[in-house]
Amino acid sequence: MKRIFLTGYMGAGKTTLGKAFAKAMGLQFIDLDWYIESRYHKTIREIFDERGEEGFRQMERNMLHEVGEFDDVVISVGGGTPCFFDNMDYMNSQGQTVYLDVAIPVLFRRLKVAKAKRPLLKDKSDEELLAFIQSALEQRAPFYQQARYRFDGGHLESRSQIATSVEELRELLEQDTM
Ligand code: S3P
Repeated sequence: MKRIFLTGYMGAGKTTLGKAFAKAMGLQFIDLDWYIESRYHKTIREIFDERGEEGFRQMERNMLHEVGEFDDVVISVGGGTPCFFDNMDYMNSQGQTVYLDVAIPVLFRRLKVAKAKRPLLKDKSDEELLAFIQSALEQRAPFYQQARYRFDGGHLESRSQIATSVEELRELLEQDTM
């Protein structure tokens, strides 16, 4: 049985790598945000608008515990998931956890063009976005660092980079027999 959790900041490439990795490994892919959206028939933005971040975090925790029971899956969680409740301990107890580590300038470049659907970023100017990423990463790093593995998510810009990253991640996780 395999259960792999991909964690890391928004824009780290959790969904991009998770999807490709699951396919290569013959595992099912689950993106926790998408799972929440389909279970509740609402977008993440709508959930934030209606229930605030606190309400979202509660739902996120509950859904994490649901998908965290599934077998033979790659689960990419939200950027904030590891930082609330005992979610990081839970993931570590349920499977292999990976921190997709990406340098701030790369995150900034990726998020500049993909901030609209992310409630925490959508209204920020470029300057505010950069400052927000810097301070959020500082606060979140201690949680992300509790993941069992650290993997460089900085090379996911083309098909061939993604394929190489998939192979490298496979090698990293195969060191472990869990
Ligand atoms: C969040 C990250 C998002 C989503 C929500 C909050 C965060 O997921 O869960 O907008 O707090 O970092 P992605 O990391 O998949 O964008």
